[in-house]
Amino acid sequence: MIGVTGASGRLGRLVITELLQRLPTDQIVALARTPDKIADLAVRGVTVRRAEYDDPATLAPALAGVERLLLVSGSEVGRRIVQHRNVIEAAVRTGVRFIAYTSILHADRTPLRALAEEHVATEEALRASGLAWTFLRHSWYTENYEDRVRAAAATGELVGATGEARISSATRADYAAAAAVVLTTEGHAGRIYELAGDEAWTMNDLARIVGEVTGRPVTYRNLTPEDYKAYLVQQGTPPAVAEVLAVLEAGIAQDALFDDSHQLSQLIGRPTTPLREAVRSWFATR
Ligand SMILES: NC(=O)c1ccc[n+]([C@@H]2O[C@H](COP(=O)([O-])OP(=O)(O)OC[C@H]3O[C@@H](n4cnc5c(N)ncnc54)[C@H](OP(=O)(O)O)[C@@H]3O)[C@@H](O)[C@H]2O)c1
Repeated sequence: MIGVTGASGRLGRLVITELLQRLPTDQIVALARTPDKIADLAVRGVTVRRAEYDDPATLAPALAGVERLLLVSGSEVGRRIVQHRNVIEAAVRTGVRFIAYTSILHADRTPLRALAEEHVATEEALRASGLAWTFLRHSWYTENYEDRVRAAAATGELVGATGEARISSATRADYAAAAAVVLTTEGHAGRIYELAGDEAWTMNDLARIVGEVTGRPVTYRNLTPEDYKAYLVQQGTPPAVAEVLAVLEAGIAQDALFDDSHQLSQLIGRPTTPLREAVRSWFATR
């Protein structure tokens, strides 16, 4: 059986959708902290089990019979090393043979150190576990920009602090397809995939595309990280969150999200979703 943690999340759910196209339903185990959120999957015949990263007592029963597992990194930054180790330890005990883990692009050298630390520690735990592993190191989700794009469409101004940095984002659906390939085909053990979109774009490109899609010109206003933080606070973002976002922007300004190896499209056998298509979908759905 193939298991997916975080199946109630946006990425995990898309991975389950991909697996349903590739495997008999009774081979899929959807693991969630909050199984109620994926009750619809249980109705479709997917095995749904509770798995709380903080509670090892839930993890071994949840992993019973699972041979290949996608460990979706948790969303509680600062707590994830212990949480992910709990999952890995339970996997070793229950006989899981292979874990694919969603890490961060260029985890070992990214300037986004605040995020990378927990991913690097998890990668190390997997290397030491004796299990077969694959690291799916993700660049940014294109969807991370949806709120800013909507604001830009409303105001005519896209605001950021990444200058002309290149951003090789891909959609969650692209990354989910890659995870499904790795879970359902052989030859991935010990591989580190740097997964990023085929297209590298800048904030100026994004502003232009938003203008073209919406029919109202949008310009990009580039700020220093300090001014970007102040801008976010002025917009109502709590200062601590604004600080984190400004630090991320400073890292992205150093091309932290740029990768031109095209490993994602090679893995999924199709081009990644173009930025323009993602932007268009955001305005088509509302
Ligand atoms: N590359 C990027 O741009 C990017 C952006 C954001 C996040 N990420 C990372 O990628 C992961 C998946 O992204 P996403 O968009 O699917 O995030 P998401 O929609 O927030 O989903 C996160 C998933 O993790 C589960 N989870 C969190 N803490 C848990 C715990 N203690 N025990 C068990 N499950 C737990 C959540 O369960 P509940 O439904 O119960 O909350 C949810 O299913 C994130 O968790 C984060 O590590 C990457």
